[in-house]
Amino acid sequence: MSAERPQQNEDASAVARLQERALADQLALKDRALDVAAEGITIADARLPDRPLIYANEGFERVTGYAIAEVLGRNCRFLQGPGTDPAAVEEIRTAIANERECLVEILNYRRDGTTFWNRLSITPVRNDLGEVTHFIGIQSDVTARREAEHGLRRAKEALEHDLRLAARVQQALLPPAEQQLGGLRIARAFYPCTDLAGDAMGVVAFPEGPVGLYLLDVSGHGVGAALLSFTLNHTLSPSAEGSLLIEDSRQGPSVVPPSRVAERLNRQFPMDRTRQYFTFVYGVFDGAHGRFRYVMAGHPAPVFLPMTGPPAPLHGRGLPIGMIENATYDDEVAVMEPGDRIYFYTDGVIEALDSSEEEFGHARLMTEIERHRELPLPSGLDRVAGAVREWSGGSLRDDVTLLVIERGEPLRPASSARTD
Ligand SMILES: Cc1cc2nc3c(=O)[nH]c(=O)nc-3n(C[C@H](O)[C@H](O)[C@H](O)COP(=O)(O)O)c2cc1C
Repeated sequence: MSAERPQQNEDASAVARLQERALADQLALKDRALDVAAEGITIADARLPDRPLIYANEGFERVTGYAIAEVLGRNCRFLQGPGTDPAAVEEIRTAIANERECLVEILNYRRDGTTFWNRLSITPVRNDLGEVTHFIGIQSDVTARREAEHGLRRAKEALEHDLRLAARVQQALLPPAEQQLGGLRIARAFYPCTDLAGDAMGVVAFPEGPVGLYLLDVSGHGVGAALLSFTLNHTLSPSAEGSLLIEDSRQGPSVVPPSRVAERLNRQFPMDRTRQYFTFVYGVFDGAHGRFRYVMAGHPAPVFLPMTGPPAPLHGRGLPIGMIENATYDDEVAVMEPGDRIYFYTDGVIEALDSSEEEFGHARLMTEIERHRELPLPSGLDRVAGAVREWSGGSLRDDVTLLVIERGEPLRPASSARTD
């Protein structure tokens, strides 16, 4: 028996040594793991005055530039400086006082005086009795992300500023909200779905008396669509050099028939160059004869509202401009008696969706046009546009553009006016 005892003791201490070594290895492994972490990891003793740091890993050295030996025994507030937001410090102070965890982004100072954004998380550690004995802090340098966000915000603000300016230019290019021209009363309504619209409209007073009117809708929205619609506005303005709307002939300048305008546009703006196509309706009103000669290119049919009688869509068809090379277009003619109206609109009107994704549609448009026919032109049109906006609950997904003309008293034929 007595011979076995020393043997047993030796075995027991060998096991204890093995266990100790395993523990030491495990601790060393944990230390190495903590040291290779990209983040700073710190532990503060909650029971010592002013909660000094009792541990900091190598990540903390890399993030802050302070050596571990320099920081042990100090409260971590030494990382703060004049640019640190007192509100962030207050947030940490309150969380620590209430023994809660917290996560803040705080401006800190490295050892060399440079600043960095510290995404700091602090978590209390409790013992078996539930008392907070330590706090663990994890410091991540998020400066690059903050700067990228800041740059992005600034770029977004600059872009929004530019878009607002461009939208103002676009508004300035619109025809007046109401006007009288060449025997017509004219009103328009325009509600872009974003700041910039792909819809455009224009009223052109030809020198000889006729009045040209167009509405167009570039596919898509935003800057690309607006740029093309700006260009088209310019191309269709009669003062632009080489205007598409007027040509010189032996008898002097004459108004180009609408179908030829559509064909010219189709040649000038092919989709493979612009990546966009557009729908277009253009007509020329001859006040002497009350004739409205027009072309339609993929555009929703305008609504003709006679002085007496129900509204009806105007005839006409043609492909959107730019879609197919060498597309041909036909002129149509509508005769307007005094008091007759024609409503032009873009598809944003009939395709406006309500909350259950139902379209406003042609039938409702006709009803609204009929309903407000007794009102003066501009306020009647505003009611129609209002009904569309109400239908979509104020959140338009497409531009809403409307133009209406009403024939006034017949004009005396102007001898030199030529529209065909
Ligand atoms: C474990 C731990 C790590 C901390 N790390 C940071 C840090 O990296 N940067 C910092 O500005 N504050 C840090 N703090 C917060 C400050 O030490 C201090 O709690 C804070 O400034 C609010 O207290 P005060 O008002 O006494 O300064 C840490 C706190 C603890 C407990």
